[in-house]
Amino acid sequence: MNNIKVFESISEFQKYRKNLTGTVGFVPTMGALHEGHATLLRRSASENENSILSIYVNPTQFNNPTDLEKYPKTFEADLKLAADCGISAILSPSFSEMYSDNYRFKMSENEFSKILCGAHRPGHFDGVLTIVLKFLNIVQPDNAYFGEKDFQQYQLIKDMCHSFLVNCNIVSEKTVREKSGLAMSSRNKRLSSAGFEKAALIYQMLKSTDSVTDIKKKLTADGFEIDYVEEIKNRRFIAVTLEGIRLIDNVEI
Ligand code: PAF
Repeated sequence: MNNIKVFESISEFQKYRKNLTGTVGFVPTMGALHEGHATLLRRSASENENSILSIYVNPTQFNNPTDLEKYPKTFEADLKLAADCGISAILSPSFSEMYSDNYRFKMSENEFSKILCGAHRPGHFDGVLTIVLKFLNIVQPDNAYFGEKDFQQYQLIKDMCHSFLVNCNIVSEKTVREKSGLAMSSRNKRLSSAGFEKAALIYQMLKSTDSVTDIKKKLTADGFEIDYVEEIKNRRFIAVTLEGIRLIDNVEI
């Protein structure tokens, strides 16, 4: 394993950050890393002299306590993957460090965050935008990397940085998929093997020429609970629950 540094203290990280020379890339995550994250980490490492990974399961973006509680935690494996991908340091602070104000202040957006996932997960994007802005302030990266699976999240973060004059380039990376087409996600680890196979239908439906109504019918008939199937601008978005696990994906159409 290379000499990867792990920081739990924000002030210790900031001392380290001050001495970095060259560009800094940043990949914010909630851990339970998979090949989708690895693609972001390798890209950051190839495009920047230094790359920082944050691992922080952010409670304010979970509207469902069971989802938060069951979020997979695989720190040792994450550390190894990060080192293999050429990451220089990991930042993994506690709740009290990240929310010293106990979430008194938050970032919110009033348009795009209110539809799709925002309409089904009240407060979710406030939590995401707040934590990402905090991390961008701590890490001060030149480039920050986000996966297209969470397209709404990526777009909102990009727009927030533009609005608040955050001097960081927000980069998106194509969704990494299983052989079946299922988008990689930390939540996939919680599916049974039958569920994992069945979940491939999401991508098939995203790519199909069926109408939104027919897609909903097919997914429901196969045991998926539907949050939404929507076409907005040039993208088709699907969010469903299978075996109690919420899965989202989208493609350009
Ligand atoms: O995409 C995620 O894993 C999270 O929403 C993020 C961007 C790390 C913020 O907690």
